Amino acid sequence: MKGIILAGGAGSRLYPLTLVTSKQLQSVYDKPMVYYPLTTLIEAGIKELCLISTPHDLPRYKQLLGDGSRLGLTINYREQAKPAGIAQAFLIAESFIGSDSVALILGDNIFYGGDAFGEAFTEFKSGATIFGYHVQDPERYGVVEFDVNGQAISIEEKPKQPKSHYVVPGLYIYDNEVLNIVKNQKPSARGELEITDVNITYLKRGTLRVSRLTRGFAWLDAGTSSSLHLASAYVQTIEKRAGIKIGCPEEAAFRAGFLNLEQFTELTALMPNCEYREYLSLIIAEANRLNNEK
Ligand code: G1P
Repeated sequence: MKGIILAGGAGSRLYPLTLVTSKQLQSVYDKPMVYYPLTTLIEAGIKELCLISTPHDLPRYKQLLGDGSRLGLTINYREQAKPAGIAQAFLIAESFIGSDSVALILGDNIFYGGDAFGEAFTEFKSGATIFGYHVQDPERYGVVEFDVNGQAISIEEKPKQPKSHYVVPGLYIYDNEVLNIVKNQKPSARGELEITDVNITYLKRGTLRVSRLTRGFAWLDAGTSSSLHLASAYVQTIEKRAGIKIGCPEEAAFRAGFLNLEQFTELTALMPNCEYREYLSLIIAEANRLNNEK
């Protein structure tokens, strides 16, 4: 499976923060926002990634992540010249996707809690898998309605009168059919290729699974100054309490087996002395201790 991170848009709701720095490069507590969705894809076992951003911002992402080899990944880059909807990402990345299935994650989506996506990825064969998350303000999102058996029966994009409190977070898994679907799709009234329309097509075909994320799982979005601040506070709270990091791609790449202990140690040694390096050094020390016990 291939993975796409969509980090486009002008980030106008975060102005003036975004005057110089792209939204998905803003800090969420102790690391750039894009580290969080990147980590989610690494945890899902995806090694081949494509990052899509504006022509203006793309060089910054390349500077940050390079070709991905540092993390045992390959990262391709593609430009989204004009924001014409989330589903446009599949057209932009068509040659990257090839004949594979693909997971798309939005660059400002932060997920945390257990192994919520593990099965969705390992058991994915065909069709589409999306998720449902209970929120207070469903009218801001794609809203999914379930019947008594827990089957999804409708999805609506930002409805004035939402049929439920379950909304669709920015992580979508599709088979290769998504390319045909988007190619035949018309832009919405706001002129965008809507991801919700892609999901509706799969729903109508009977090949859409909507997996409900349980209580205790956190999905944060960081698109406004207030939600950005809250996301930072949340990450800080968990990290300080548990002594772990959320959204740490180096750690995820090591735990996923994309980097062996030697590569992980070398990578860490290149970092300046800082708290981030100290954290990774603890993981290395623990891995060495366990190796010595074998
Ligand atoms: C987009 C999608 C919406 C989804 C949301 C998740 O909204 O259109 O269906 O629920 O992402 O973050 P947008 O960010 O374009 O408002």
